[in-house]
Amino acid sequence: MKNVNIAVDGPSGAGKSTLARRLAERLGYIYVDTGALYRAIAYDMLQHHAESEQDIAERLPELDIAIDYQDGVQHVLVNGEDVSGLIRTPEVSMGASRVSAIPAVRQFLFDLQQRLAREHSVVMDGRDIGTVVLPDADVKIFLTATPEKRAWRRYLELEEKQPGVQSYEDVLADVIRRDEQDMNRAIAPLKQAEDAVLVDTTDADLAQSEQMLLDVCKEKLRL
Ligand code: DC
Repeated sequence: MKNVNIAVDGPSGAGKSTLARRLAERLGYIYVDTGALYRAIAYDMLQHHAESEQDIAERLPELDIAIDYQDGVQHVLVNGEDVSGLIRTPEVSMGASRVSAIPAVRQFLFDLQQRLAREHSVVMDGRDIGTVVLPDADVKIFLTATPEKRAWRRYLELEEKQPGVQSYEDVLADVIRRDEQDMNRAIAPLKQAEDAVLVDTTDADLAQSEQMLLDVCKEKLRL
């Protein structure tokens, strides 16, 4: 039977990773967090002090990036080392944003992402999945919410971890800056695919958002 491919794209803070993971669980598919792949490359580049675009491109052939699942949770391995616990730092976030603008990096991950989608039924989340990586995906969802709402959710998350460190205004400014960067980069910018279904979670909680995604998939896949 043909594998089913579901693409979930959208800006940061729209709830993509949580919702895409839950959707994959509900449908019994594999969840692929493509941001983690860019983060893994950024982590390796930081470790090896590969800074220029040329250094980074030259290091790519040395890299074996793989994903593995433990209790349904995605782990990323770089040359056999599980780096999953090391790629959520602000330094790696910055690095990921930088490496993700390099054509050679995007090509390298393009091949890996396409192979995963050929071999498994997947819910793949990212920025360019419906537009570039899986243009023939069975379902394409563009998940968004207003910048204010996305910043508010991120602010609450941060407050829980480290109260009083960042103000809501700072978080909002950051969200707006990242949107700008993601939407205006020359290569594979964040944009809604023409045939993607727009799901706006501004006024929905997690359970409602999950139901909205599931409804779209059920309709498209005739489940
Ligand atoms: O979703 P995230 O924050 O883990 O993504 C990390 C970085 O990778 C972010 O700067 C956007 C980039 N990215 C991308 O360019 N294309 C993807 N498909 C996924 C992430």
